[in-house]
Amino acid sequence: MSIAVSLPAEDKTEWWCQMLRDLMPDWDIYPMSKVPDPEKVTYSVVWRPTTGAMTPFKNLKAIVSLGAGIDHVLADKELPEDVPIIRTVGTDLTQRMKEYVALHVLRHHRELPAIQANQNRQAWEQIIVPPATGRRVGVMGLGNLGAAAAELLTQIGFQVAGWSRAPKDIPGVQCYAGAEGFGAFLEGTEILVCLLPLTENTRGILNADTFNRLKRGASVINAARGPHLVDSDLIEALNSGQIGGATLDVFHVEPLPAAHPFWTHPKVTVTPHVASLIDAPTGSKIVAKNIRTFQETGSVPDLADAKRGY
Ligand SMILES: NC(=O)c1ccc[n+]([C@@H]2O[C@H](COP(=O)([O-])OP(=O)(O)OC[C@H]3O[C@@H](n4cnc5c(N)ncnc54)[C@H](OP(=O)(O)O)[C@@H]3O)[C@@H](O)[C@H]2O)c1
Repeated sequence: MSIAVSLPAEDKTEWWCQMLRDLMPDWDIYPMSKVPDPEKVTYSVVWRPTTGAMTPFKNLKAIVSLGAGIDHVLADKELPEDVPIIRTVGTDLTQRMKEYVALHVLRHHRELPAIQANQNRQAWEQIIVPPATGRRVGVMGLGNLGAAAAELLTQIGFQVAGWSRAPKDIPGVQCYAGAEGFGAFLEGTEILVCLLPLTENTRGILNADTFNRLKRGASVINAARGPHLVDSDLIEALNSGQIGGATLDVFHVEPLPAAHPFWTHPKVTVTPHVASLIDAPTGSKIVAKNIRTFQETGSVPDLADAKRGY
């Protein structure tokens, strides 16, 4: 019974191994590259695994994604078939995402980027904005993160709309569902927040057509995955004024390449995929609990649906 751990950085892999060993002293836990006997590996714990890395593990019972999304696991086209994937989620991750969303929604709402630009040229220009009650924020994805962020935004006072695959009922949030609800969801939105999982249906969803349906000058916040966004469509929309500003935490290529225009665009704020990161001390407790529960019962509440893609 052993666990193989793999993160892109070797020191982080070692750190996670050590945290898990402390919590699970009865298990053998190895960095994936140093597993002595692949046949004995029953669980893998991964963030962005390399293609084929899990092929030698013929007795895998479950793959643990070190994050809420499973797109980085499904990207491995040689992934062992029909092995359940467990998401790592929890109140810690949700809290961090709520903070990130509230911070950037308020920042766009109160025109902070323009105020900062004015300060840089010592310009005393009062920008008058409506109260939050006069501003519509749209949250794409109403799962663990989106629903919590939407609820917090209603508490601040925003008019909040939410969009999911299946219909939802969230107090104070105007909920829309499916492709048929997408247009009505976008209409009148001034700040759009993306918290969708990356799937075949959501890839490229932040595109020119979506931007054109928002209120002119709207802001876009993408804290989900880089490939949700069509980068060139956003640049064009920013330059035309259809989109007034964007905060981007995730990118097609991470780290964002030095030559990418987002780095220097005056209307774009770049954050380096920090909206809601799992740290090893908190995350390892969730991972250990999930593995123990799965081992005992054959299931956990945070099981992803690989066919659905999230
Ligand atoms: N930037 C960061 O630091 C960071 C950190 C953590 C997570 N993330 C990203 O955030 C994503 C969301 O996390 P989560 O835990 O909230 O996910 P989740 O609980 O799986 O919720 C996903 C939500 O998206 C909706 N959805 C999925 N496909 C859809 C579609 N085609 N049309 C409309 N709605 C759709 C789902 O609808 P139903 O409810 O109807 O199923 C659900 O409401 C993750 O997948 C990850 O990519 C980013």
